[in-house]
Order: sequence, then C-alpha cells, then structure tokens
Amino acid sequence: MQTDARSLYEQHFGRPPRVVARAPGRVNLIGEHTDYNSGLVLPGGIDRHVEVACGEPGAPGFILHAPDLAETHRASGPPTTRGGGVADYVAGMITALLGGEEDAFRRSCPRGLGVLVTGTVPRASGLSSSAALLVATGLAVHRLLERSIRPLELARLCQRVENDFVGVRSGIMDPFASAHARKGSLLLLDCRDLTHQEIPFPSRKAEVLVLDTRVERRLGETGYNRRREECEEAVAALRTTLAPVTCLRDVDLEMLQKARPSLGEVLFRRASHVVTENRRVTETVRHLRAGDLEAVGRILRESHASLARDYEVSCPELDLVVETAGTCEGVLGARMTGAGFGGCALALARKGAGDDALPRIAHVFRERFSREGAFFRVELTGEPRVEEGSCAT
Ligand code: GLA
Repeated sequence: MQTDARSLYEQHFGRPPRVVARAPGRVNLIGEHTDYNSGLVLPGGIDRHVEVACGEPGAPGFILHAPDLAETHRASGPPTTRGGGVADYVAGMITALLGGEEDAFRRSCPRGLGVLVTGTVPRASGLSSSAALLVATGLAVHRLLERSIRPLELARLCQRVENDFVGVRSGIMDPFASAHARKGSLLLLDCRDLTHQEIPFPSRKAEVLVLDTRVERRLGETGYNRRREECEEAVAALRTTLAPVTCLRDVDLEMLQKARPSLGEVLFRRASHVVTENRRVTETVRHLRAGDLEAVGRILRESHASLARDYEVSCPELDLVVETAGTCEGVLGARMTGAGFGGCALALARKGAGDDALPRIAHVFRERFSREGAFFRVELTGEPRVEEGSCAT
C-alpha cells in the first residue's frame, strides 16, 4: 500500500502539503471493554499508521482525498459530511477546531484546506484505524494553524469527536494509545484518572501476532453502544443494592454476587467480565515485570473466554483463530482485541514462533471459512509525529 502522504498529496493537489502527521494504530494486549468503565487497559502503538497531509489547495473550500479508499469529498466552505466514512472523522476534527462556521473557516484557511489521508492500519478491524486518523488529523491541523496541543488533550478531543460527531460512544483508550505511543512499550492506562505508566514489552523474547479475520464491523451499527448501555444499567442496578457505586471499577466479584438478583443474568455476566478483566490487567503487568510470559499467555486465554462467554463480543471467526493459535508451538496465548464483533485477535508468542504459527492459522482459517484472513506480526514501534512539509520514513 502506498503510504507516502506527501507525494500522494502532491500528485492530487499539484503542490506540496504544508504539514504531514502520522499516528500509529494500536494493539491492546489486555483490558477489553474496560476503558468506558473507568478501568485499566494495556495497549501499545504498532508499526502500522495513518498519515494525514494538509495544505492550501489555492482556492477556498475543503477537499479531502483518501486514495486507498477511492474517496474524495469537497465542500465550498467547512466540511459537513456525515456519511459514516473516513470523511466524518476528518470533518469532525476540523469542525471541533474551527467551529464549523463558514466565516471562521475562511478566516483560518483563506486559501482553502486540502487533506490527504493514507495509511497501513486495516480499517474497522480492531487496530484503531479511526483513532489513528483522528490523532493524525488533529496533529496536522494544529500545526497548520500554528497551535499546539498536549497528547492528553488531543486524546480527549479525539474521543469527543468520535462520540459527538461520528456517533460512536468509544472510550479514551484508542486515541490515548495512539497519541502517547512509545517505541518498545505498552501503556498501562488507568481510565479513571488518566494516569499512565510505560511497561516495556520484552521484544527480545516475545512477539505479537495479529490475526485479522477481516470480518468488518462498523462500531456504531453493532452492539458496541449497546454494551456501554448495559454497563450503565448494571451500575444503576448495583446502586439500588450497594449505595455509592458510580462505575464498574468500584465493584468486586463479591459485590456482584450480592447484587445478582437485581442485576439479572445478562447484566451480571457483562459486569463480571469487566470486573475480572481489570484484575487480569493488573496481573498481566505483574507477570510482565517478572518476565513470566507463560502466565501472561494464560491470562490472555482467560480474557478471550470471558469476552466470548460473558461479554458476548466474539464471533466464530475470532474463536477459530484464537483456538488455532492456542495449538501452535510457541504461542503463549491469544484473545480478540478491540471492540470485537469481528476484526482482529492477537497472539503473544515466543520470538520467532510466528514463522510457523502464522501460515498454519491462515491455512486452518481458509479451510474452515473458504476465504482469506490476514495474519502478520506487529512491532510495538509506533509513535506519533508531525512535520512541516514532509514526514520522512
Ligand atoms: C473500541 C473502542 C475502545 C474500547 C475497545 C474495547 O476499540 O474504541 O474505546 O472500548 O473497543 O476495549
């Protein structure tokens, strides 16, 4: 895939961009569906990214070109699209920064605004292509307007855009991970107070494999928003039995058992996943620090079982790749990653084990579903960056 946003911009607009920004996708080693419950997550930026080039096409108005998706959008003033695609993320960020008023847009971009989007993060697959797009767009537009923004503020802004403009009630994890990604590290983020610690990933001993089922899911159209509502309903039900609970982070398994009659079976299972998943994040970090990768693998397998059985966000394709990975030599554990309902799983493997495991999983997947998934290694080397004029690789 062509990822040089600068030359693609030049080809399309006939002049160089003023700014190019790049932001990584992420894998989340563990801590799934915990971020919007004020819980713990452990993502890391990967060597797949979204690149956004911005400049002045010379005429007033807005033009967005995304060659990978063969999409082009034009507006005579500020962007207004809400068709549900890439353009919404870019339009949402520009509207958030410039206010969406014709006059303000013309004052800030008197010679128009041209945006080109390209990248290597597979779309809608659970590797955070949307957050990477938002972070890259936010960085590029800030630099273009000669404004600055700290990573945490940028992550919050991206979340607001996705919640309010795009209409997906996503949590803070993905934009936070993309905006704060550090080479070689996972980020242990506490979504209650937004403090984080870098946890080194043992890349000399282990590797992360991505098992992309290519089952596409659009977050807004699936059960993602519904899962959030269920967590809110669980908190409301818990409050009737256990007074000061404000989020599932405040809850433990004993409390859940006591409140089981008022929760009902479904909400009990949803809440159980969240409560046990927070504990799994803490345990994973402890084992990573102690170098016990077998134990980390075991926890990944438990996480997948909980997501499939209690949170019900897996699907047959994800279950198959996770199960098959578990039978491969050197694979320590696997689980779905991201929102679920399709997309990717990840596997933690001993260094080099992917050489045999990846083709084997691909083969089993092809045999079972008569189509191709995408199975590859990722390195935790993603970092966001922004440069004037170009973005050297
Ligand atoms: C998506 C959302 C995140 C998070 C995960 C599930 O990636 O964008 O905020 O909720 O799903 O852990």
